[in-house]
Order: sequence, then C-alpha cells, then structure tokens
Amino acid sequence: AVTRTFSIIKPDATRRNLTGAVTKMLEDAGLRVVASKRIQMTREQAEGFYAVHKERPFFGELCDFMTSGPVVVQVLEGEDAVKRNRDVMGATNPADAADGTIRKTFAEGIEANSVHGSDSDENAAIEIDYFFDENEIVG
Ligand code: CMP
Repeated sequence: AVTRTFSIIKPDATRRNLTGAVTKMLEDAGLRVVASKRIQMTREQAEGFYAVHKERPFFGELCDFMTSGPVVVQVLEGEDAVKRNRDVMGATNPADAADGTIRKTFAEGIEANSVHGSDSDENAAIEIDYFFDENEIVG
C-alpha cells in the first residue's frame, strides 16, 4: 500500500550542503517528497520529538546536536514508505550501515547520522503531525 513516513535531514547534512544529495537518494528509492520545510528546531521541539529517549544517556547531546543548525523535515510517500525509507537510510550507526545507504555514504557517526526516519506507521503519523499541518502536505 502507498503510505507516508516522516524524515529529517539532520544538521550534519545541511551543514555540508547535502540536502539535495540526500533527497535524491530518497527519491531514487521510490519515495516522493509531499511536504518539506527547512527549520531551526527549538530545544523544546527537539526534547518533545525525542521524548521516548528521555532516559537514555545520549538524550542531552542528541538535543544539542539536533538544535545545532538547520534541519529539513519532510513527509515522504511511497509503497511501504516506512520500510523503504529505513532500507535506504541504513543502520543507525554508519559503521553498521550497508553500502549504498544514506548513512553509509554521508553519516559522520552514530549521532551525526545525517537522517532520521520513522520506525512504524503509527510513529510516522505522530511525527508528521508534530511538524506539519495537513494543509502543508500536497500529494
Ligand atoms: P534517530 O533515528 O534520529 O533516533 C534517535 C537518535 O539518537 C538516533 O537517530 C541517533 O542519531 C542518536 N543517537 C546518539 N547516540 C546513540 C546511541 N548510542 N544509540 C542510538 N542512537 C543514538
């Protein structure tokens, strides 16, 4: 089925002017960008977005990193979008990511790993809703 997922192009990637290169890899994987905006995440937004990781030792640093520069938040649409997106992103740690994936190609480390993607349809809906109004999504 055609579904949606939520993606973030992270500050390490925008800093290196890789917005287009990352988006091209998403598109080449069969995903369509149906909403996109470049934002400076606030501390409050980052902490809310990553609230499930609040007790993890890396939570503070993760929020520092995600607010260290602009990000591009996107809604992606395609056949099995969550899985398709996760496949093209590769493993969280670029050292474990397969050749040809976004993280293997571009990520600097486990934290500065260039992209975020939703891990389930349920979380995709929550994450899309966190950053977008329905009228900003044009399929
Ligand atoms: P993301 O998919 O955005 O979800 C949580 C993020 O935490 C993850 O990608 C990584 O960028 C970041 N992170 C930093 N350190 C770790 C770690 N040790 N394990 C997992 N994720 C980490």
